[in-house]
Amino acid sequence: MSVVVLISGRGSNLEALLRAGIPVAAVISNVAGAGGLAIASKRGIPTKLVKHGDFPSREAFEAVLAAEIDRLAPKLVVCAGFMRIVTAGFVERYAGRMLNVHPSLLPAFAGLHTHERALAAGVKVHGCTVHLVTPELDAGPIVIQAAVPVRDGDTADTLAARVLRQEHLVYPRAVRWFLEGRLVIENGLVRVKGGDAQCIFSDND
Ligand code: GRF
Repeated sequence: MSVVVLISGRGSNLEALLRAGIPVAAVISNVAGAGGLAIASKRGIPTKLVKHGDFPSREAFEAVLAAEIDRLAPKLVVCAGFMRIVTAGFVERYAGRMLNVHPSLLPAFAGLHTHERALAAGVKVHGCTVHLVTPELDAGPIVIQAAVPVRDGDTADTLAARVLRQEHLVYPRAVRWFLEGRLVIENGLVRVKGGDAQCIFSDND
């Protein structure tokens, strides 16, 4: 029933998952010193560093990463700020059991610098998306989205902070649905058994 979390950075989503009681078997980072490694260690959760720079190719890196994941036989692989584009082969290995959180309302603003791009585009609503990972970047079936207003005077940092609070809310929810076997995928679309809301609008900060 456990989960392996892949990170590259500060690990605030990892922390939200842990706080919500998600059973995390191990945390793997591709970046040495990632804040999330300390968060995991503090809670006694095993950590592993698999530095992509130590490998001659993406495939070689992913072979070791996959071996580390598979050793733990997790039910679900959770990307939480894992800033590495992976190959289709890697994605297919975990097809239907790998989730990602992305800081925009997909399909808008796939890729990097989402908050800057949202501000530059003048959108009035922004947010985050939890989706299943498929070979096309940030394009997998959407599990849950949270929307927030874009306010006058927002900077990329203020907007990112508003979105991040929602990431911390929706990601544990999506992971729990998965672990409870409640996600149903039909024609590439995700439904939750029991009818829980798959969208949140937060206007209170
Ligand atoms: C989050 O905004 C996530 O959506 C994006 O990277 C950031 C990771 O933050 N993919 P953290 O490491 O979970 O704090």
